[in-house]
Amino acid sequence: MLEPAAGNGRVLIPLLESGLNMFGFDASPEMVAFCEEECTRRGFPTPVDIQTFEAFSYEHRFEAIILPAGSFQLIVDPAIALRVLDRFREALLPGGRLIIDLDLLSCLADAPGRARHWHDGQDILTLQEGSVERNFMRQTMLSQLRYELWREGKLVSTEMELFHLRLWGLTEFELALRIVGFSSIAIFGDYGRVARPEEAGQTITFEARVGGELRK
Ligand SMILES: C[S@@+](CC[C@H](N)C(=O)[O-])C[C@H]1O[C@@H](n2cnc3c(N)ncnc32)[C@H](O)[C@@H]1O
Repeated sequence: MLEPAAGNGRVLIPLLESGLNMFGFDASPEMVAFCEEECTRRGFPTPVDIQTFEAFSYEHRFEAIILPAGSFQLIVDPAIALRVLDRFREALLPGGRLIIDLDLLSCLADAPGRARHWHDGQDILTLQEGSVERNFMRQTMLSQLRYELWREGKLVSTEMELFHLRLWGLTEFELALRIVGFSSIAIFGDYGRVARPEEAGQTITFEARVGGELRK
């Protein structure tokens, strides 16, 4: 199985531990280094390398490609997104599955300015999200993510990330998958907890193969 944009291995490592034969890549050398370190600590060979959605290649093909947590939405240009979907199809074995999580299109209209925090021992990490631009025609949202590290009530360091996402409509994404050659597409809402994908409150998951009929 391949996880593109595997990050620090948050999903990939538990799947490795469950016995799946995992590979992954990420564009960020820092994230790949974190993932490598955690794999080594658990006695696994390093299955991750530095590659991008747009240009990744492997000598073998995969039974499944997974993109949890909405990483696919980081591709904000729909023409590039189609080329990447096509690359995913080419990287799959016959009958192989592509499994992609997407956020709801309604996120575009959600109130901006979410604040979150985590405790790390005595330290507190905070994340504040500020909306820069929401483009309803292009279905994109640009946010400023401000990360802060607080120790004994004092600000120790801060980092800023510009975060650009494109949200997809249900039918739009199904058509995108069909255009590149997937013809068996299942759509789930909230990991199957709701009867119909339209009822999802948080996550839509697409599962696509080459061949077969649509089911919802
Ligand atoms: C939200 S994280 C998700 C990580 C992991 N899938 C998880 O669920 O924990 C998104 C990751 O996408 C990576 N990324 C962003 N653009 C990318 C690209 N063009 N090609 C490959 N990885 C990319 C980032 O470096 C980051 O690690």
